[in-house]
Amino acid sequence: MKPLKNRPHVLVFDSGLGGLSVVNALIHSRLGVDVFHLADTAFFPYGEKPDEALILRVPTVIRAGIEATSADLVIVACNTASTLALDVVRAQTQIPVVGVVPAIKPAAVLTRTGTIGLLATPKTVTRPYTDQLIAAFGAGKAVLRHGAVGLAGAAETKLAGETPDPHIFDAAIRGLFDQKGGETIDVIVLACTHYPLVQAELETLAPYPVTWVDSGAAIARRTAHLLQNQMDQGPTALRSGLTTGGADEATRRVLQGFGFQTTQTLNVESQL
Ligand code: DGL
Repeated sequence: MKPLKNRPHVLVFDSGLGGLSVVNALIHSRLGVDVFHLADTAFFPYGEKPDEALILRVPTVIRAGIEATSADLVIVACNTASTLALDVVRAQTQIPVVGVVPAIKPAAVLTRTGTIGLLATPKTVTRPYTDQLIAAFGAGKAVLRHGAVGLAGAAETKLAGETPDPHIFDAAIRGLFDQKGGETIDVIVLACTHYPLVQAELETLAPYPVTWVDSGAAIARRTAHLLQNQMDQGPTALRSGLTTGGADEATRRVLQGFGFQTTQTLNVESQL
């Protein structure tokens, strides 16, 4: 049965639970919408998967999510998916698609030293889309990239109430600051939606205080703009947390603890 609707339905899509950092931004901005979160848990993590598999899978899972939630707008709250597949996703749906891509533009405004650290998944750091963002908005700046292995998984571990391996955070920070010129980094772009969820852990390991930038607030503003005549004055409501992987107990607990009224499994395998 399709969910009932008296205000806009926003579908937040991610490979896992990183989309919750974007949901936090929607709540913070008090968007008068109903939010659904779809995690492709059956194929997590995206950041270490081949592009050929993702380019087929991502649009299919998103289409199934739009159908299941009667979404009016979808946020591709995954830099790894957005930098690869936004065009394909847009070509396959009529509703507005908001992509989440590395926040190079605000970082270039904020840096004083001219050196920006870009922390993302191993896939996102190598994408032509990322090269284009740096060429368009990072002119005259040094952008030092690091593809962090296991960091999105560490965020999931933390969400599940367990203690992530501290070496993962250490390796992420060193991957930036140990590069040539790394000692002048003063702004770090968290270019994976999982990373704001472990910003505190990263902050304590940075050799000195830096400015951390993520895309959450900008995505909330863009969503508000696109839905401006349809939202109401009420607070953001969290309707359902969907997963593709037959959500295990821990995932359901996280989604319900976060405030989603229900959890649901979305069967996509037959469509792939
Ligand atoms: N949250 C995703 C992103 O923004 C990636 C996590 C993963 O590797 O699946 O890039």
